[in-house]
Formats: sequence, structure tokens, C-alpha cells
Amino acid sequence: MKKKYYIETQGCQMNEYDSDKMKNLLSKEMNFENTEIKEDADVLIVNTCSIREKAQEKVFSLLGKWRKLKQKNPNIVIGVAGCVASQESVEISSRAPYVDMVIGPQTIHRLPELYKKSLVSKKTVVDVEFPLIEKFDNLPTVTESKFSEFVTIMEGCSKYCSYCVVPYTRGTEVSRPLNDIIEEINNLVNNGTKEIILLGQNVNAYFYEDKNGNIINFGLLLFYIAKNLDIKRIRFTTSHPNNFDEQIYLAYEKLPQLVSHLHLPIQSGSDKILAAMKRGYTVLEYKSIIKRLKIIRPDITFSSDFIVGFPGETEGDFLKTIDIIKEIQFDQSYSFIYSKRPGTPAASIEDNISDEIKKERLCYLKETINSLSKNRSKTIIGEKIEILVEGISSKYNDMVVGRTKNNKIINIAGNSTLIGEILNIKVTELDNKTLKGEILNI
Ligand code: 5AD
Ligand code: SF4
Repeated sequence: MKKKYYIETQGCQMNEYDSDKMKNLLSKEMNFENTEIKEDADVLIVNTCSIREKAQEKVFSLLGKWRKLKQKNPNIVIGVAGCVASQESVEISSRAPYVDMVIGPQTIHRLPELYKKSLVSKKTVVDVEFPLIEKFDNLPTVTESKFSEFVTIMEGCSKYCSYCVVPYTRGTEVSRPLNDIIEEINNLVNNGTKEIILLGQNVNAYFYEDKNGNIINFGLLLFYIAKNLDIKRIRFTTSHPNNFDEQIYLAYEKLPQLVSHLHLPIQSGSDKILAAMKRGYTVLEYKSIIKRLKIIRPDITFSSDFIVGFPGETEGDFLKTIDIIKEIQFDQSYSFIYSKRPGTPAASIEDNISDEIKKERLCYLKETINSLSKNRSKTIIGEKIEILVEGISSKYNDMVVGRTKNNKIINIAGNSTLIGEILNIKVTELDNKTLKGEILNI
């Protein structure tokens, strides 16, 4: 009988991607099968996130629960992967010595050998190196057909924002060779994929020099993909305002496959806070990117990450964030209360804001974005729009959900046969927060 694995994923899309790759290794190279029932698993892996303190503490409480499973069955192998593994490798082996494997975000491809080692080792086996692009070269490609797929184009971050652990846990920016990316997308296209989401901590810092000395930046990569491969939609996440260059504007001008939605984290609307965060741009510079893109693509929508309660953030600074939200009309946000991370420069700044104020600010920010988004949704009722159907609606089981090019989610009547189809629809109503529509043609 095949051994079984269970993987729990916390954190960002990069982690989702890494977990998929680990699942692939376990199934294809190690002959395991997936289970959703922890109690049945021979290998339990948690793929962790350490971007905020809460996320990190969650790992240790989860490990406490898994320890009980191991007490019942000592043959279970427990692994901790991802950013907590990278940041707390020593602490994991001392705080949770029953953990068998600690695997950093850049060494997940070594899972088969780490697993073998862990079976014979009495101590926790730890591998949290950053072996540059070795990871990209050593992961099997996915063979199941999915209409929308992530493709990693770069990893790590060299921006060193003062509050963030990513450059330390995932390492500095490393771009994947162009040919590998093209080959992966080509395989996906041949397998039925219609949309790709280019993935990386700062995708627009992509930089690759080929054997002949030709430089490929992110904008050129977009042209390469759009002009050479039969892909219907190209999305990307996440990008950084400082790496927004002419080639990328040109891509928005010339490439219809590039969707009209951009996730461009601003973090704060106050120049003082942006400087303390070491983000490297001002609000005006950020706004000038948005302005140019709106000229090129009038229907473009934006989303952003925000941090509230950064040390030194006054009520006035916070209100500047609200102002920028209203001005740009972000449709969606990933917003967080500042979390002090050990080893980052901001950790030494006195945190002078009460938890209560931080929570109030977060709540107000989220409410502002939600109500703006709802108002904007109303404005598209009656419009004829193209959607890519992504799956069955989570609210209505006789409906499917699709996404417009500018990232609006729309429910239409239909069943699973429509999944993966690109359809023209008419938006008919806004039911509470949910947009509904009807098919115009197939
Ligand atoms: N505290 C709160 N939020 C953080 N982020 C990164 N580091 C921290 C931190 N220390 C948020 C930023 C980033 C997103 C991925 O996580 O908004 O864009
Ligand atoms: Fe962290 Fe800043 Fe890099 Fe984003 S750009 S991953 S916030 S250091």
C-alpha cells in the first residue's frame, strides 16, 4: 500500500506554489499519495509563513497537535518547510525536537533526500541553504491540466523594506532563465492552460542575461510570452513600484493578453512612513505610475497591500492612507497590522501605537476599500464583458464563477462543463456583494 502525505500551507501564493511542487515530488518521485486526513498520513508537512508574528506562532501550536499524532504512531515523519523553517531552524529543533525535517523555501526540491536522511537520523535534519537557481532546475513539471497556472519567474527580494523578513528568509532576488520559463509555459499551454500568473516576490525586478549577453527584463519577458505562446491571459504578482519601467508600460499598450488589473503594493499613503519603511518611492511617484496606466488602459483596476500601525504612524499619516485609497479607488487590498519581526531594522524603532488603535485603523481601512469596491461594482451592471470561468460558485451550486480581465468576479448560471471557457456575458445585478451575469454566447 502506498504511504500517504498531508501538507498544510500557510501564507502567500509563493507558498501555495511551493506546496504544489512538494506534492508533485511526493507523488511522482517518492510514490506517496495525498490524503486530506492528518491521522492517516505517514508524512506531515507544514509549509510556513513568518511575515507576521501571528503566522509564526500558529506553526508551533500546530506542531504541538501533530506531536500527539506522533506519540500514537512514532513512524510518522514531520516536516516544517518555508519561511519559519528558514528563520527559526535552530529554534524548531530545540522547541520541537520531534520535527524530523526542516526545509527552507529554496531547498524544497531536496525533499526526497531529506526524507531518506530523516528516516535514519536521530536528530532533526535541517537544510535551509539558498542554492540559487538549483530549485528551479530540479522540480518536476505539473502534468494535470489546469486552465490557470502559476509560473515562478523569480524568487527572493533585494528591497530590504525596514519591516520585512522576506530578504532574509527567501534570500535576494534571483531570476529564472528565460528558456526554462518559456518551456514551462509551452508545456502548460499544450496541456490546456489558458491563463498564466507570473509569480515572484518582485516580478518586475526580473533580469536575465543570456549566453550572448542579451538582457531580458520583465517587460521583454511579457512580450516574449505574449508573442510566442498561445496564452489567452497573462497576470502577474507581486510587483514593486520602483521596478516599473518603460518596457512594462509598452507591454500594457501593446499586449491584449496582459490583463487590466495590477496588484501594486503602496503600503502607506504618507511619505514620512514610506521613508521609514524604506520603500524607496513617494506617494507622488506611485500616483504617476497609476496615472500613466489609466491613460493606457482606462478600465484598469488596482489592488494593494497596506500596513497600518507602523511605528510613528500618526492619525494624520493614517488618514493620508485613506485619502490615497479613495483617490486611486483600490478594488481590493491585503491589509495588515504592523508586526515587529526580529532581525529587521524596524524592530529597533519604538512601537508607540496601542493595539486598540491599530485594530481600529485596520478595520476602517478595510471598510473603506469594501464600500468603494461595492460602489464600483454597481457601475458595471449592464456592461458586456469577457470572463474566464474558474470554477463552481461557492455561494450557489447551480452557478459558476468567472473573472473579468480587470479582476471582477461574476457568477453566471451553469455547471462544471463551462470551467476554463472564455465567455462573453452581460452583468445583470449586484446581489449583496456578488455580481451576477448571463451568457451572451459560447
Ligand atoms: N508586518 C505587517 N505586514 C507585513 N508585510 C510584510 N512584512 C510585514 C510586517 N512585518 C506585508 C506587506 C507586504 C505583504 C506581503 O506582507 O504589506 O506587501
Ligand atoms: Fe518584503 Fe519589501 Fe521585499 Fe515586499 S519588497 S518582499 S515588503 S522587503
